Amino acid sequence: WLWVRNLRLKRRLPGPFAWPLVGNVMQLGQMPHITFAKLAKKYGNVYQIRLGCSDIVVLNGDRAIHQALIQHGTEFAGRPNFVSFQMISGGRSMTFTNYSKQWKAHRRLAQSSLRAFSSANSQTKKTFEQHVTAEAMSLVQAFLHQSTDGRYFDPSHEFTVAAANIMCALCFGRRYGHDDLEFRTMLKRMDKFGETVGAGSLVDVMPWLQSFPNPVRSIYKNFKNLNKEFFAFVTDKVVQHRESFNPDVTRDMSDAIISVIEHGTDSGLTKEFVEATVTDLIGAGQDTMSTLMQWIVLLLVKYPDVQAKLHDIVDKVVGPDRLPSVEDRRNLQYLDAFIYETMRFTSFVPVTIPHSTTSDVTIEGLHIPKDTVVFINQWSVNHDPLKWKDPHIFDPTRFLDENGALDKDMVNSVMIFSTGKRRCIGDQIAKVKVFLFTAVLLHQCSFESDPSEPLTLDCSYGLSLKPLRIRINAKLRGKLLGVVS
Ligand code: HEM
Repeated sequence: WLWVRNLRLKRRLPGPFAWPLVGNVMQLGQMPHITFAKLAKKYGNVYQIRLGCSDIVVLNGDRAIHQALIQHGTEFAGRPNFVSFQMISGGRSMTFTNYSKQWKAHRRLAQSSLRAFSSANSQTKKTFEQHVTAEAMSLVQAFLHQSTDGRYFDPSHEFTVAAANIMCALCFGRRYGHDDLEFRTMLKRMDKFGETVGAGSLVDVMPWLQSFPNPVRSIYKNFKNLNKEFFAFVTDKVVQHRESFNPDVTRDMSDAIISVIEHGTDSGLTKEFVEATVTDLIGAGQDTMSTLMQWIVLLLVKYPDVQAKLHDIVDKVVGPDRLPSVEDRRNLQYLDAFIYETMRFTSFVPVTIPHSTTSDVTIEGLHIPKDTVVFINQWSVNHDPLKWKDPHIFDPTRFLDENGALDKDMVNSVMIFSTGKRRCIGDQIAKVKVFLFTAVLLHQCSFESDPSEPLTLDCSYGLSLKPLRIRINAKLRGKLLGVVS
């Protein structure tokens, strides 16, 4: 009887029929997160698909995702042992490593060094905010330069440079100019990173694709090279830091990490983890932030009435003679509502980095074995019609109550940084950055799209959804301000 009961409890997961060799690859389509949400309507919020040689469980909707990542946090905190994951950060990435005691120590170290240089006390907070504001002003200058004579330009690359610069300032105490060709070229190649590690990428689940020439094989080769190049860039800076290290002066995050790993009492991590930690942080902080900023300008030009309202509010609260600061935030709640709606509406990290189960586990009555790959569909949470009125409509006011104040519960319902043990560790600094960047850009510029081209929200799929094409012109509003330190 017990055996029958267990069998019933361990019901096979529902899911679509999987073809031999390819499984459900042909069904994924251009936007797998939307396919996953459609499949959830038919099979429920927890179901199984097969991609190549991997069985994958897909989790959709707030309830199933919270049950997995919060109630069964440890069981869902793993990462698959994909070959591509081992090419990242010299093979010692914290982000792409399975759950273990060493991973815990590594994550704690990354988290505490990030905090020490962004929010530990009022002085570090101020220094960090000044960095971000200065970077935003360099962006304004680069935009105005590219807009000379009414020209339209693609701002994506400037956003990447600005986002990478903030991380380089934290990690190395230096930034790079928007015209630094070497830096730009390296970042341009890194743009392709998310193609390989995004949920649904075929590189790791169909290893036989490596044996003959095809597009997936060249993506794979390219991925290996771009990781090598980026890791070499970081290693070079870390080596310089090591050579000039002074235990009495912590210049930046590289010094702080060297100090813990190489001069502290047993961190459990070897010297090589210094380079890996810095590579992880710069990589994670750059792609996500620049993609978010691309969506922000795209939505500002797509909805000129929203842009006009934001200009109005920023002008009233800040005035023409100074730049916006974090202290203005409590009076700029419509701006925060606009940012949250951008994150919800675009769900630009539609599916988290793939997870895996660290032991057998049962959720919603369904048994999932240890070492199963798990996709977490954040998009499905942000577009659930039971939770959001007209989820397909862009409307920042949905986050404001009748007094124009931000509704905290609604804000917390947006899922973009994931949740549980693998939740993003950069969420707080990302929120400060996006607020300051957007506030400074709006204070200084007005944006317009190229009327000779159709304005589209079409995007490419990967770890992040990137707009396919943005063409804007930026005009100075009032006077160009300097940064007060
Ligand atoms: C992981 C989102 C900015 C550092 C993640 C994950 C998501 C995410 C969805 C995967 C969580 C999972 O697998 O369940 C974002 C978004 C950002 C952002 C939307 C910007 C708007 C940043 C920044 C940093 C950062 C600025 C660092 C400076 C990390 C790290 C991980 C991570 C280290 C890996 C955590 C782990 O595996 O334990 N982020 N992120 N992120 N993020 Fe972010």
